Amino acid sequence: MCGIVGYIGTQQAAPLLLEGLTRLEHRGYDSAGIAVVGGGTTAALRIAKKAGRVRGLQADLPKRFTGKVGIGHTRWATHGPANDVNAHPHTNATHDVAVVHNGIIDNAAALRHRLADEGVELVSDTDTEVLAHLVGLSTADTLERRVSEALALVEGTYGLAVVHADFPDRIVVGRNGSPLIIGVGEKEMHVASDLAALVRYTTTVAHLEDGEIATLTATGFTTYRTDLSHTSRPATTLDLDLTAYDPVGDGAEGGHMHREMLDQPAAAERVLRGRLDERFGTAHLGGLNMDARETRAIRRVKILGCGSAYYVGQMGASLVEELARIPADAEAASEFRYRDPVIEPDTLYVAVSQSGETIDTLLAVEEIRRKGGRVIGLVNVVGSAIARACDGGIYLHAGPEVAVASTKALTTMFLGFSLLALQLGRTRDLSIADGKRLIAGLQALPAQIEEVLKSEDQLALVAARLAEAESLFFIGRVRGFPVAREGAQKFKEITYRHAEAYQTSELKHGPLALISPVVPTVAIVPDDELTDRNVAALHEISARGGPLVVVTHPDVDLGDVRCERIDVPRSERELDPILMTIPLQVLAFHAATTLGLDVDKPRNLAKSVTVE
Ligand code: F6R
Repeated sequence: MCGIVGYIGTQQAAPLLLEGLTRLEHRGYDSAGIAVVGGGTTAALRIAKKAGRVRGLQADLPKRFTGKVGIGHTRWATHGPANDVNAHPHTNATHDVAVVHNGIIDNAAALRHRLADEGVELVSDTDTEVLAHLVGLSTADTLERRVSEALALVEGTYGLAVVHADFPDRIVVGRNGSPLIIGVGEKEMHVASDLAALVRYTTTVAHLEDGEIATLTATGFTTYRTDLSHTSRPATTLDLDLTAYDPVGDGAEGGHMHREMLDQPAAAERVLRGRLDERFGTAHLGGLNMDARETRAIRRVKILGCGSAYYVGQMGASLVEELARIPADAEAASEFRYRDPVIEPDTLYVAVSQSGETIDTLLAVEEIRRKGGRVIGLVNVVGSAIARACDGGIYLHAGPEVAVASTKALTTMFLGFSLLALQLGRTRDLSIADGKRLIAGLQALPAQIEEVLKSEDQLALVAARLAEAESLFFIGRVRGFPVAREGAQKFKEITYRHAEAYQTSELKHGPLALISPVVPTVAIVPDDELTDRNVAALHEISARGGPLVVVTHPDVDLGDVRCERIDVPRSERELDPILMTIPLQVLAFHAATTLGLDVDKPRNLAKSVTVE
């Protein structure tokens, strides 16, 4: 949510900043801006910012926008509408400070009043602007001290970068609840809120911790606590698949979401690799940091995540209950942390997050740990805040996920839960035969996902028809219900159609009233113990003229129900949800494409919700 970049070195900063911002546009894309400190005898601060995309900013950039030190930002509006004035960087009255900021300053209103009382004229609606004024008003002798003094007045979350015309040889950055990564280059230093903006220049990085600030000069970096006492933050060189970060053009070649959907068979292989023990029909998850005695002592499993991660958490809870027979449920982390939850010592808490930065999930983890609970993480981004805050966990190895709509990360989350349930089950009553059955099912999944993806052309035709509807239902029951929820979520977030998920069993208790020839229903009907009941519900919908798309298994008898039928390969029943989720992603993608929408950058949304 919002993207930050910064550069200091021997090259012109502006082109590098703009390139970095383009790679961060998925984090926010309603406005963008850069500030550079010009060279020469009198270092001048130049700022260019504009509502809209980075390419608009680039097109309008003044010719002489030179300087080898600079910062940039791509915004997702929180305080104030997306317009040129509210875009970052923000500056002070004398235009010598520029600040870019992710996060939310909670006491911004009080600080604005205070600044106004001191005669400062605030020009934007943002919380960030107060930071620029506070740094500008400080008379301390170093930029670090000025930033430290400003931060001492601020309550809230931030990832920020500051440049100052009077200190042209440095960028000062700080982190509290919003990620910042320093990249170490040859006689140059970079900073960004996301690895995606750095990897083209360097893979030697240092993750700033909460409560730390750092000074970047062309030759290195130094880290401090906000009180300016020194910390040690060594840089490490990451082993990354750089092609996964290659930008794809807006809408060209299907964009990021399309590429990420197609990467799912490979991502599924990666998360399973080295973790299946065929001989004993179990999984090996060393990162849990729990021995068999500890896993046997678990009486309950509570899964916490937000949005799609929460829906996959519901699929995960079913897996744990079915395979390990441990009571399990999932809850939206964004609600959990506000209801003063009772933390039980024999409950295993599981935080699930692609980014590892979602603030509600992170704060839920911290709350559980504060109360003495044990939390493990199912996280994709290595070294992210949630991964670091947990007692142990399972990395998902989905690779970078850039599209706002999550696809491959969710598939690996489901597989992560399958591995966890298998390991928990095998330390309890799950037989070795059942363990082996599940392993065979898991091993077959990558090829089966590939098979579903091959029916993309057929799915695109169905999607084009669904795109005509203003409002749709997605229905399923028991294992199929979280699939329906995730299907509706994906559809609504990128098509802007009203898509509502319901338990098939609940239709007659209200929503059936809405069924009509203009309200299609996408129904999840696996071949399982509930097939007959599901098919009966299809008849009820069909009898009321409701168009139907049915995601089912080959040979399931749907009787004379009129529908578009989508068959997915048979798997082990416990694993059906993931194979039934894949066609729903493809439907959402093609419906959005049919409607001419920018699939990778849905309106009002941004990747990684790092503000409350
Ligand atoms: C939907 C989507 C969001 C995320 C949610 C949690 O496609 O991407 O609902 O699933 O914001 O994000 P992470 O997994 O990063 O915690």
